[in-house]
Amino acid sequence: MERGYPEYMLESIEFVKKTRERRLKEIPELMTLEEREEILRQYHPDYKEDGKRIVKVGANAGEFMPHEVADLIEAYPLIEPEQIDLSTIDYDSDILIIGAGGAGLTAALWAVSSGADINRILMVTKLRMGDSNSKMSQGGIQAADCEDDNPTLHYLDVLGGGHFTNDPDLVKWLVREAPMIIKWHEELGIMYDKDEEGCMFVAPGGGTCRKRMHSCKDYTGMEIVRVLMDEALNLDIPTLEFTSAVELLMDDAGKVAGAVLWDMEKEDYFIVRAKATLMATGGFGRLHVQEFATTNHYGATADGLVMANRVGARIIDMDSVQYHPTGSSYPEQIVGLLCTEKLRGRGAQPVNKYGEEFVYPLEPRDVESAAFIRECAKGNGLVTPTGMPGVWLDTPLIDILHGEGTIEKEFSAMFLKYARFDIDMTKDPIFVYPTLHFQNGGIVINKRTGVVGVEGLFASGETTGGVHGKNRLMGNSILDYCVYGRRMGIYATEYVKNATVGKLSLDHVTKYVDLLEEAGIPKERKAPILLPEYRGERTISHALPLLG
Ligand code: FUM
Repeated sequence: MERGYPEYMLESIEFVKKTRERRLKEIPELMTLEEREEILRQYHPDYKEDGKRIVKVGANAGEFMPHEVADLIEAYPLIEPEQIDLSTIDYDSDILIIGAGGAGLTAALWAVSSGADINRILMVTKLRMGDSNSKMSQGGIQAADCEDDNPTLHYLDVLGGGHFTNDPDLVKWLVREAPMIIKWHEELGIMYDKDEEGCMFVAPGGGTCRKRMHSCKDYTGMEIVRVLMDEALNLDIPTLEFTSAVELLMDDAGKVAGAVLWDMEKEDYFIVRAKATLMATGGFGRLHVQEFATTNHYGATADGLVMANRVGARIIDMDSVQYHPTGSSYPEQIVGLLCTEKLRGRGAQPVNKYGEEFVYPLEPRDVESAAFIRECAKGNGLVTPTGMPGVWLDTPLIDILHGEGTIEKEFSAMFLKYARFDIDMTKDPIFVYPTLHFQNGGIVINKRTGVVGVEGLFASGETTGGVHGKNRLMGNSILDYCVYGRRMGIYATEYVKNATVGKLSLDHVTKYVDLLEEAGIPKERKAPILLPEYRGERTISHALPLLG
C-alpha cells in the first residue's frame, strides 16, 4: 500500500517507530489532581474567558455561555408569531417527539410498550430517521455488569469525571439502570462484541476504574440505532422526516402544547398540538465553538436549547464544552471526525513529532485534550499542509500488543476510513487533534425527564444538562440517551393519561421578541438555525488561535 502522508510527516513517523519498543514498557503516569487542574486552566478551551459571554435576556439571563450558543439564545425567531394560524391543527397528538436519533427512538419505543396509543404519537426529524450523533458514536456504552464492577463504582467515576458538578440523582439512575439497558439491547438483537466463550467483551475508557465499555466493534452507535430504527419501523410509529421544529407552542394555562413545524421539502409551516412534547434534539457540535472542527452530524445545531429557552426552561453547564482528544487532523477530507477512545483503551499511545509520549493515554477527556493542545503549543506537534495542528496516535501498538489482525477486526470502520486515503493504521500512526464532540450541559430535567419548571415538556439525551456535569466520560452518552430516553417514553405516557391542552398560543415568542428589542439585540440574528452554513466567510481554524 502507498503511504498517504507527505514526506515531512513520514520523517516524523520514523521517530515514532524508533521509540516504540521503549514506549511499550514505559507508559506515562496519571496526573495528580493538582496537575490536572493546572493543565485545564492553562490549555483547555473552556478556560479561555474571551470565548464566552453572559446572556442578557430570558430565562437564562446571567448564564455564561460560549458566544456561539449565546448568539442563538439572543436571537429572533424564524417565524412571525402573528402570521401563524393557530386555529387549524394539522396534527393532533398525545406525544410529539422532536428528534429521531437515539433518545427520540428509545422514547418512542418505550412509550409504545408503556401503553401509549401508537396512532397518537408523532416523531419528527429534520433529516432522516436515525441521522444523529447517536448513530455516529463509535467506542461503546458503559454498564457495570461484570463481576468485579458495580453501579457504585460507575457512579463514582461519573461524578469524578464531571468534577463533581453532576446532578447526583440523575447519575444514580444512569448507573443503576445501565445493566438493564444492555439486557434490553440484547433482547432486541443488538450484536455486542463477545469473547470466544460468548461472554461480553468489555474495554476500559478514560477516567473509569473498571473495564465496562460494551461495544460493537468501532461502530457501536450504528449498530444500536440500526436496531432501534428497525423496531420503530416494524411498529409503524408515525414519523415525519425532513421536518424541523422551529418553535414550541404553549396553551393558555402556560403548559407546552406541541410545536410549529417546518416542512423542509414543501417549505411550509404547520401545527402539531400535543399533550406532551418530548425534546430529543441532540447537541451543538455544528456551532463549531471556538472554531473547532467537530465529530458531530450535520443537524447538531442546538435547536432544542433555543426552543426550550423561549418557553422558560433553565439551561446549565453551557460554559463547558467537550473536546474529544482524538479527532482526525489529517487528511483534510476527514478533519474533525472521531478516532475512538477505544484505540487508546487497546494500547494506542499519543506521541509528539519526536516520537515521545507526553500524557497518560486515558486521562479524563478534558485533561487529555488539554495535554494535546499543550504539546502543540510547545511546538512539539506538526502542522499539516492545510494548516491543521496535531500529534500522532501510535495505532500499530494495538496489533503488537494483541496480535496481528486486531485493528482490522476491532476497528474495521476506522481501518477502512484511513485505507481510503492510503494510510495503513496497522503500520503507521494516525494524526490527531482535539475536536468538538459533546454538549456537556443543557436543559435542566428531573429524573422523570420533566423539564424543570415547564409543564408538558420533557427532554433527554445530549440536549439536557446535569447527568455529566462539566465533563462526560466515554460511553456515558449512549447510556444517557438509553436510560433517559426510556424514562422519557414511560413518564410522558403516564403524564398524557390525565393531561389536557387549552387554547394554543405563541405569546411567549412575542414576549421574547420584546425582550430582545429592549436589550438592543441585532435583528439579523435568527434561531433555530436548523442546518449549519458553510458558505461565505466562516472559518474552522481548528483552534489554531490557542496556539498563539
Ligand atoms: O471515543 C469514543 O468512541 C467516543 C465515545 C463517547 O463519546 O462516548
